[in-house]
Amino acid sequence: MTYIPNSIEARDVATLVHMQTNLRKHQKEGPHVITRGQGSRVFDDAGRDYIDAVAGLWCASLGFGSERLAQVAAEQMRTLGYYHLYRHRSHEPAVALAETLLKIAPVPMARVVFQCSGSEANDTAVKLAWYYWNAVGEPQRTKIIARRMGYHGSTCAAVSLSGKPDMHAGFALPFAPFKHTEFPHYYRRHEPGETQTQFSARMAEALETLIQAEGPQTIAAFFAEPVMGAGGGILPPSGYFEKVQPVLRKYDILFVADEVICGFARTGEMWGSQTYALRPDMVTSAKALSAAMQPISAVLINERIHEAMLAQSDKLGNFAHGFTYAGHPVAAAVALEVQKIYAEIDIVGRAKRLGPVLQSALGRLKAHPLVGDVRGVGLILGMELMRDGERRIPFDAALNVGGRVDEAAQRHGLLVRVIGDRLVFAPPLVIEAADIEDIAARLERALNDVADDLAREGALG
Ligand SMILES: Cc1ncc(COP(=O)(O)O)c(C=O)c1O
Repeated sequence: MTYIPNSIEARDVATLVHMQTNLRKHQKEGPHVITRGQGSRVFDDAGRDYIDAVAGLWCASLGFGSERLAQVAAEQMRTLGYYHLYRHRSHEPAVALAETLLKIAPVPMARVVFQCSGSEANDTAVKLAWYYWNAVGEPQRTKIIARRMGYHGSTCAAVSLSGKPDMHAGFALPFAPFKHTEFPHYYRRHEPGETQTQFSARMAEALETLIQAEGPQTIAAFFAEPVMGAGGGILPPSGYFEKVQPVLRKYDILFVADEVICGFARTGEMWGSQTYALRPDMVTSAKALSAAMQPISAVLINERIHEAMLAQSDKLGNFAHGFTYAGHPVAAAVALEVQKIYAEIDIVGRAKRLGPVLQSALGRLKAHPLVGDVRGVGLILGMELMRDGERRIPFDAALNVGGRVDEAAQRHGLLVRVIGDRLVFAPPLVIEAADIEDIAARLERALNDVADDLAREGALG
């Protein structure tokens, strides 16, 4: 494609590398430029508007623009636009945000460690697990277990934790200490006649088999998202965490709940850990922590970890870890204001009220010929596109059904997240019921378009 010289498109392809993008295709087809946002909608440079059904990257919980947060950021920049938390220095926004997080933590937590992204939070949690086992005299506990198709970020450690082969390919990753257990996707992976509870028991047995094969005394921690986001909006099947947690306790393995997507009301409780009765030793959070208006993340650590850190820093003289921008005062001030807004608008009550609207509006599409399964909790939902939903026969990957639905949805003014032939929805938490109905209507139009095309190609049924 030839662009107008000096257009944003021409400047983009001449300068930027885009994430999670086919780079050659991007050079040919150029960017889709978003110019502004309002509520749950974003507008592109052609003036078209879209409902963003996945809140950007599951993060813009309060929508795409906020005068109130802009003022808080500006005021903090005037007062103290930067300071760090190294070598005993401190500032009010970081302290106040840490206090708030400890008050609302899903289980009793002792301290907060700040970073700038979800990946860094998980990276830090990996380091803290290693630090812990070193401190308590079990330095051989170096292996970390997570799940296939889990997603924990893009840094070397966070992507090693992640069980997504597409994100390891070409990078010489995952690192050796990272092991992956079964993908607990009941719909796609259960045996004929196997109930959710039986499937969960099988998943927990597979975890225990892996632990035994690796040597329990070599395992430092287990990481899991309460609901798997980038894996496709996968809910834990009934009994899953009830079966998995005793296995972790049996071998004294630390449990880290990755709440980067689930934290702050996404699942209909403040934390996914509350929805699924998790008892983590550490919680990682980001995204809705600051409504994505500023890059900030937090690791919440319990007393057991903190005590060991104190002892280790006595021994080594220093807790030798840090990021220049960790707990940045502007990001912390904005996140603190976001937490105030959540309290004012009763974000959990809102998610409890609107969750069923989302589940029923999109749940109706289960009857659509392209849809095999729909499942969700609170304001997160996953949808499987299947050639035969009843018999669980997927589409031929070469048909790129997910990609076609993605394009058709965009034509109908809807932005969704497509993962293979899975669609995931996680709209801003401030979305209104009418917009949720609109998401379902636009998606249905997109599915109809793709179904018509596939029927013409003889690829349906
Ligand atoms: C569950 C989970 N953990 C971690 C991350 C990484 O967060 P970030 O992109 O802020 O590094 C993500 C990003 O989508 C995520 O979904």
